[in-house]
Amino acid sequence: MQISGATIVVTGGASGIGKAMSRRFVEHGAAVVYVVDLDGPGAAAVADEIGGVGVELDVTDEAAIVNLIEQIERDHGPIDLWCGNAGIGANGGVELDDDVWNANWNVNVLAHVKACRHLIPRWIARGSGHLLITASAAGLLTNLGTAPYAVTKHGAVAFAEWVRITHGNDGVGVSCLCPQGVRTPMTEADGELAIEVVKAMGMIEPEEVADAVVAGLAEDAFLILPHPEVAQFEQRRAGDRERWLQGMQKLQARLLG
Ligand SMILES: NC(=O)c1ccc[n+]([C@@H]2O[C@H](COP(=O)([O-])OP(=O)(O)OC[C@H]3O[C@@H](n4cnc5c(N)ncnc54)[C@H](O)[C@@H]3O)[C@@H](O)[C@H]2O)c1
Repeated sequence: MQISGATIVVTGGASGIGKAMSRRFVEHGAAVVYVVDLDGPGAAAVADEIGGVGVELDVTDEAAIVNLIEQIERDHGPIDLWCGNAGIGANGGVELDDDVWNANWNVNVLAHVKACRHLIPRWIARGSGHLLITASAAGLLTNLGTAPYAVTKHGAVAFAEWVRITHGNDGVGVSCLCPQGVRTPMTEADGELAIEVVKAMGMIEPEEVADAVVAGLAEDAFLILPHPEVAQFEQRRAGDRERWLQGMQKLQARLLG
């Protein structure tokens, strides 16, 4: 996937990882970067700063997604890269009510399905197009202290794999970005287990994630791991699930003091 000359959309582009990726794409010669976010003024500010186009949009609103795709096609031609990066979290487990679970499901999983419903037929017709889903290491492993996030990020990884397997032969590229802790507004809070565990594992900057994305896209990598150790953790989990679960229980006990 070549960034230079590409028409690119980044959802969740007003902040954190999405902001850093948007900036990198412009620096690497993208033809145009659409910075899309629920936070319209935030998207506009990032777009102004980097020379992109800011759009206020809720990624769970399918009609708005269709309008955006059609508008971009009219103004710039086909979309080469769609980065489904907007995401939300929630602290807690089974006590959280359905509204919280549904919100995590809608943003972290279903939004990708809704975008792909309209992008993939276009990409198949053209024989090219690339999807990048920002999942998380939580989607390969787990995330202590947050059941909806861990579960829906597994869903995001599963969906990315499914699209790659099903449409890879149609010319559709898929990458799945799975960082561990990244210093963004999402990980700012103190005292929550879900965030403390991420901090304990070591935080990196959004710009480092953006660098990993640029490198991963250049080689059409499926899994993009800005924290390379995640690959080893995943192997340990698959190799001996019992041992891995016991290790995670110990880590949780240690963090809870
Ligand atoms: N920060 C981390 O440690 C970390 C680690 C792994 C994965 N991630 C994932 O990276 C992605 C970006 O997170 P971040 O850390 O930059 O967080 P962030 O909170 O800084 O940015 C998320 C952005 O998504 C936007 N957003 C949320 N819901 C939306 C919606 N319905 N429609 C449109 N935009 C919406 C927010 O307004 C915000 O600007 C998320 O998918 C997150 O789950 C983050």
